[in-house]
Amino acid sequence: PVASVLERGGVKIARDDVVRDEPTNNIPDTIFTKLGQQLHRRSQHPIGILKNAIHNYFDSNYENKFDKFDDLCPIVTVKQNFDDVLVPADHVSRSYNDTYYIDPQTVLRCHTSAHQAELLSKGYTQFLVTGDVYRRDSIDSTHYPVFHQMEGVRVFSPNDWESSGQDGTAYAAEDLKKCLEGLARHLFGAVEMRWIDTYFPFTDPSFELEIYFQEKWLEVLGCGVTEQEILKRSGNSNNVAWAFGLGLERLAMVLFDIPDIRLFWTTDERFTSQFSEGQLGIKFKPFSKFPPCYKDMSFWINESFTENNLCEVIRGIAGDLVEEVCLIDNFTNKKGMTSHCYRVAYRSMERSLTDEEINELQWKVREQVESKLNVVLR
Ligand code: PHE
Repeated sequence: PVASVLERGGVKIARDDVVRDEPTNNIPDTIFTKLGQQLHRRSQHPIGILKNAIHNYFDSNYENKFDKFDDLCPIVTVKQNFDDVLVPADHVSRSYNDTYYIDPQTVLRCHTSAHQAELLSKGYTQFLVTGDVYRRDSIDSTHYPVFHQMEGVRVFSPNDWESSGQDGTAYAAEDLKKCLEGLARHLFGAVEMRWIDTYFPFTDPSFELEIYFQEKWLEVLGCGVTEQEILKRSGNSNNVAWAFGLGLERLAMVLFDIPDIRLFWTTDERFTSQFSEGQLGIKFKPFSKFPPCYKDMSFWINESFTENNLCEVIRGIAGDLVEEVCLIDNFTNKKGMTSHCYRVAYRSMERSLTDEEINELQWKVREQVESKLNVVLR
């Protein structure tokens, strides 16, 4: 197993280097097998095609001045992932329920912002970082525990804004919005966009960009003016910067009409053969949709129950055959016991599933939900 992980591409940790039984490690096999796959470095894969298109936008608008990183190790310290970007000590994103921990000091990065502080300290002033990021989450067509982000950072010095008559923050915010609106037009053509004010620990002010697509407003990125404390610690006291983080799957689903996030991981040629290097205009033609199979499951929960843990158990057994896990009923009885009913949708994107194999999966799911989550099946 050690060799096979190394072969899968450059990730400097072997699976057996980690004490897997440590209760502080919450990384399942389904996640381990994703390390090193680096979809963003495959030029024929939608994620790689999109990364290259964004690189091209920055190359042509900024005279090749952005440094690009797409091979930074996804295994980072808690300090890099959280402390260095000012995530508060009690922020939910630090919990074992939300983040994959290798040990109490080491995580699979949950965002590419984990590399901001280090690159700023090394003196980089304009850069893009693309990589796989990992988050424990629920299961549906737009959520998968591994996805890809691109981080962008640009630093300004007083010279840049002084002649504009604006202060540094206003100047950076304006430049940021212009840059990202231009990127959205480059990728999507003429689209309706809107800015939403939001909160991130590492930027102030902070914004999200939404794009109107298929009759819905879709959030495509988070960004803002970098907190001064981050710049100060990196030796940029007099400077001002902006940063953004965009979700590549989200953008690629819109760009290429990809209906389900699991498709990015399939090796089925009916998917992979539809995309080619440098081609942004391709629309994915779904191969026939195979029938779903629904299984309901009810149980009494305990205080430690979380939906993320349930989803991980199900994903551990069914892998990519699980399409959605949805809470369909929730009540508390007179004794104060709470019951949840979840509907699990199983569907393969490649073939029809048999009743037999689904029944077998569901049987295992019920067994493990009871033993691992300490709930009582009804
Ligand atoms: N890291 C944020 C996220 O993953 C996105 C972000 C990056 C926001 C940089 C602001 C600045 O949601």
